[in-house]
Amino acid sequence: MDAIEALQGRVSVARLVEPGPSREQLDQILRAAMRAPDHGVLRPWRFLVLEGDALGRLGEIFARAIRHDQPDVDETTLQRIREKPFRAPTVITAVAEVDPDNRIPVEEQLLATGAAVQNMMVAAHALGLGAMWRTGSMAFHPEVKRGLGFAPRDRIVGFVYLGTPAGEPKTAPRESPEPYLRTIPGSDS
Ligand SMILES: Cc1cc2nc3c(=O)[nH]c(=O)nc-3n(C[C@H](O)[C@H](O)[C@H](O)COP(=O)(O)O)c2cc1C
Repeated sequence: MDAIEALQGRVSVARLVEPGPSREQLDQILRAAMRAPDHGVLRPWRFLVLEGDALGRLGEIFARAIRHDQPDVDETTLQRIREKPFRAPTVITAVAEVDPDNRIPVEEQLLATGAAVQNMMVAAHALGLGAMWRTGSMAFHPEVKRGLGFAPRDRIVGFVYLGTPAGEPKTAPRESPEPYLRTIPGSDS
């Protein structure tokens, strides 16, 4: 698949099953992430490649975060949250370890990490894998960051769920960029 085809044809795949990416595919995906544009070459991104038991540990961190907020939470709710990471064989958690004192604004450090995530999404698609970028309340919870070894100021940019698509993925709509184009007021271009 060429790069333009991969970029224009990528879709999110919510239902993912075994097998997850091979070692070789994970290496390719992470190398793609490393080529994201990165103002100041700060390398703000950190990746946790979670598979097998590590998915259970992530689920337990989610459950602890919920219990932190709601000490009386019922076991059914906790079990539901524990199971979230098992929606795919592999979850790469992408975190921006930000440096607020750097001359490069934190916003740009987040953008660089987001670009790294997008590179992973496109790489996964080009390798024939399915991928889904997820966040949700757990991505913003300080207890989740702490559980994963990060500071409150760091930002979980995404949980990238990876695996084999269960069924035929949707076809990417060929959406025209026309409605999103603007010109500088007072000029034609
Ligand atoms: C920062 C970010 C966070 C996202 N979080 C979620 C999420 O929590 N749950 C979800 O279903 N999709 C999430 N998505 C994926 C979008 O929902 C998805 O891209 C959108 O539905 C369009 O589908 P497509 O990627 O196939 O075009 C997220 C995407 C981004 C960029």
